[in-house]
Amino acid sequence: MEHWLNKSVFYEIYPQSFFDSNGDGIGDLPGIIQKLDYIRALGCNALWLNPCFVSPFGDAGYDVADYCRVAPRYGTNEDLESLFASAHKRGMHVLLDLVPGHTSVEHPWFKESCSARPNPYSGRYIWSSSVWEDVTGYPNISGSLRGISPRDGSVAVNFFSHQPALNYGFARRTASWQSAVDSPEALATRRAMRDVMAFWLDKGCDGFRVDMAGSLVKDDEGSRETIKLWQEMRRYLDEAYPDAVLLSEWGEPDKSLAGGFHMDFLLHFGTSHYMDLFRCEHPYFSREGKGSAAAFIETYRYNRQRTGGRGLMCIPSGNHDMERLRKYLDEEEMKLAFAFLLSMPGAPFIYYGDEIAMRHLARTSVEGGYFRTGARSPMQWDDSANYGFSAAPADKLYIAPDEAAGAPTAARAMADVHSLWQEIRRLIALRMEMPALQAEGGVEFLCDGDTYPLVYLRTAGSQKVLVCLNPSAQPASCVCPYAPARLLYSLGGLGGLAGGKLTMPGQSAAFWAVE
Ligand code: NOJ
Repeated sequence: MEHWLNKSVFYEIYPQSFFDSNGDGIGDLPGIIQKLDYIRALGCNALWLNPCFVSPFGDAGYDVADYCRVAPRYGTNEDLESLFASAHKRGMHVLLDLVPGHTSVEHPWFKESCSARPNPYSGRYIWSSSVWEDVTGYPNISGSLRGISPRDGSVAVNFFSHQPALNYGFARRTASWQSAVDSPEALATRRAMRDVMAFWLDKGCDGFRVDMAGSLVKDDEGSRETIKLWQEMRRYLDEAYPDAVLLSEWGEPDKSLAGGFHMDFLLHFGTSHYMDLFRCEHPYFSREGKGSAAAFIETYRYNRQRTGGRGLMCIPSGNHDMERLRKYLDEEEMKLAFAFLLSMPGAPFIYYGDEIAMRHLARTSVEGGYFRTGARSPMQWDDSANYGFSAAPADKLYIAPDEAAGAPTAARAMADVHSLWQEIRRLIALRMEMPALQAEGGVEFLCDGDTYPLVYLRTAGSQKVLVCLNPSAQPASCVCPYAPARLLYSLGGLGGLAGGKLTMPGQSAAFWAVE
C-alpha cells in the first residue's frame, strides 16, 4: 500500500506565532485547529509543529522540561489530542517535534542528576567525575556547565548552555566517566525517549520531526552508533506503530535513511548547497540570473546515489532557523522557487507565512531566537488589528508583527488570482494528481545547473513529467530530447519544446507530460 508520506505536502507551524485564540498575545493549539481549513485550502495535508511542551522557553521550546505535557500557554494535552483528531478528519497528518538530544536545565531528570546522592537519573546526562575535569572537546558536545550543582562534575551541553545533553553513551571511550552505548544508563535514556514517542503516538500523533537526530551518540565516527540507535528505534516503531513516521534534522541522507528515517531534510547547514538556490549573494532563483545550481545538483545526485536511488530529501521553503525566503526573493521570484520546491522528490515543507511572502523582520531576540526571531513573527491573516493574529494589545504580542506598509495578508493573497498563494495552490493540486511529481518519484537532472534553465525529468511508472524552470529575467534555452505530449502547468510566457530544443522566456516555468 502506498505510504501516506508519498503524497504529503507539509506546513510547518511555529505555534507561538500562528493564531492566538484566547487573546493572550501568543499562538495556541485551539488557534491552530481553527485554521486547519486555511491550510487545507492551500492544499497542504500534513503539519509539523515545533515543540509545544512545557519549557522555560530559552530556546523557543527546544529546551523541554516535560516531554509529555503541553505547555499551558498553548493549551492542554486534550487540546493536542483534539488537534490530531481534527487534522485526521480533514485527511491531514501531524508530526510533533521530538528533541531527543537535550532537555532544559529545568527538566526533573536534570534536577535529579544534579544531586550529589546517586539516583536513577545520575547517568541520564553526560557528567565527568569532577568539576575540574572537562567534558568538552569531543565531537557532538558543544560546551559544558560547571559549578552549578552539589554534584562534583562538569556536564555536557548540546546546543545553548542551558540545554544539557542526554546520555546515549560514547562510541569511542577515552575517559572513565564516558558511558558505553550499551551501558544501563545509556539504554535507559533510549527507553525514556521511546516512551515519549509511544505516549504521543498513543494519543494520535503520526510521527516526529527529530531535532539534531545525528548528534545523539558522542565521539561517534561515521555516526555508526547513532545510526544503530535509530535502527533500533525504528524496529520498535515498526512493530508497535507501523504507520509512524520519522523525519530527521540531520542533513546526511545516506546516514539518516540507513538509520531508518523515512526522509531527511536538506538544510541551511551542511553540504547540500541548499543556500545557493535561495539565500546567498546571487541565489539561483533570483531574476538577475547570476546564480548557479551546479553544486546543489552535484550533491543531490551524490546523495541519491548513496541512498540507493531513494533520496527522499525534504526541501523546505524555510524554517524557524533560517531567514525568510522573502528577504532574498520577491513574490514573483518566489513563484518559481515554489515551482521547484513543489516538483522535487521528498516531501515539500512550507514554512508558515512563506505562502504569502511574509518578510524577514529586524527584531531583537525573543526566546533564544537571535537572527531567527525575524522569521518567527505573527502570521498575518487579514487587515484587522494585529493582522487578525491576536486580540491582545499590540505590546503584548509574542513578537511585534511587520508594521511596514503593504505587509501581505492571507486574506488578500487568497482573493487575488495572481498571488503567490494561488500559484502554490495550483502547484500542490497538480502534485496531488501526478504520481511522477510526488515524494517517491524518480528525478533526473537534464542540465548541470551552471546556467539557465533548470530542467529535470520526474517519473513514476510510465508517467514522465518534464519540469522546466527559468528563474532568470533573460530568455534561456537548452538541448532537450523529449517531445511534449501535454502541457500540465505554465507560469510566465510559454516558450517551446520541439526539434530537440527547449526555449523559455525570462521568468517562466513549464511542466510538460512527455513521451
Ligand atoms: C534545531 C532546531 O531547529 C533549533 O530551533 C534549535 O535551536 C536547535 N535544534 C536546538 O534544539
